[in-house]
Amino acid sequence: MAKKHWFYGKNILLTGVSSGIGFYMAKMFASKYSCNVFGVGRNIEKLENAKKVIDEEIEKFSKTKKGKLSKRGSFEYLSKDISSFESWQDIKKILGERDFSVDILINNAGIMLPFDRFENQTPEDVKKVFETNFFAHIYSYKVFLEDLKRVKGAIINISSSSALCPVAGEAVYGASKSADKSFTEAISIEHKKQLYIAYVCPGFTSTDLFRNEEGMSKLVKSVCMPAEKMAKKIIRRLARKKRRIVLGIDAHFMSGLNRLAPRTASSTISGVLKVSKDPMFDKVYPENKQKRKVK
Ligand SMILES: NC(=O)c1ccc[n+]([C@@H]2O[C@H](COP(=O)([O-])OP(=O)(O)OC[C@H]3O[C@@H](n4cnc5c(N)ncnc54)[C@H](OP(=O)(O)O)[C@@H]3O)[C@@H](O)[C@H]2O)c1
Repeated sequence: MAKKHWFYGKNILLTGVSSGIGFYMAKMFASKYSCNVFGVGRNIEKLENAKKVIDEEIEKFSKTKKGKLSKRGSFEYLSKDISSFESWQDIKKILGERDFSVDILINNAGIMLPFDRFENQTPEDVKKVFETNFFAHIYSYKVFLEDLKRVKGAIINISSSSALCPVAGEAVYGASKSADKSFTEAISIEHKKQLYIAYVCPGFTSTDLFRNEEGMSKLVKSVCMPAEKMAKKIIRRLARKKRRIVLGIDAHFMSGLNRLAPRTASSTISGVLKVSKDPMFDKVYPENKQKRKVK
């Protein structure tokens, strides 16, 4: 039988399951940990592909020695944009109709603008990022809190290493993730005795999040963790009910440096990105592009 962690066999509402970290978490929870995962994303084609792979994995696991002794997990999905309060009310209604009571809420869906100076970004960009990365977490909390309290459930918010140390070129993304970290820390104290509430700060992970970037820097590639490995590590930390989860060499470096040298950490990290001279950061450091052209 699969190891019976506290989340074994639970009902999980997980956003951002159509790709990246969310997809791999959904796959592992639904197969290895026999959870009933209800996933949310927007792109129906991607969601349908995810379901196919996850259903196959559930089937495969059920035939293993451990799987034969375990309860069978499941995966269902819903296509919904999670960035409005109305969407969350709809999600709750649909789950009610399907008799799905949420034990664990994982807010994973997130977006990032291409690396650029803030002067080039619009108020609409800011709104879009905050609505997905921060307000969606507030809405889901408001909509599901009473249900989660009833079952002494859990809320897991996926923040980012950007919340541990601000970086030039990611002002808006970092601000949205810092807001989420701060919010999650506060509510985790407010509900200490009723709920397990945690935030996760992954470092660079190879996912579609960088789909808008010209080319991924060598530096980033060298620290980038595969999405499946990141998902595995997150689940391992959740099993131990950690409330603050920092993962990846870059995330640990950013966290450590910001604690040791809070006044200079941001400019040091931003300086490392600059000297990497990689195209991904060209809009933040246009002089790098110029120098490459001259050569
Ligand atoms: N990759 C990294 O280096 C990294 C580092 C730190 C933190 N994170 C965080 O990890 C989380 C997962 O990101 P990822 O790297 O796995 O990226 P990803 O592969 O791009 O996955 C993002 C997921 O979020 C969904 N999504 C985005 N906006 C949505 C919306 N408005 N409504 C519903 N679903 C939405 C996407 O679904 P559709 O495409 O179907 O809309 C997709 O399933 C994010 O919160 C991200 O900020 C990532």
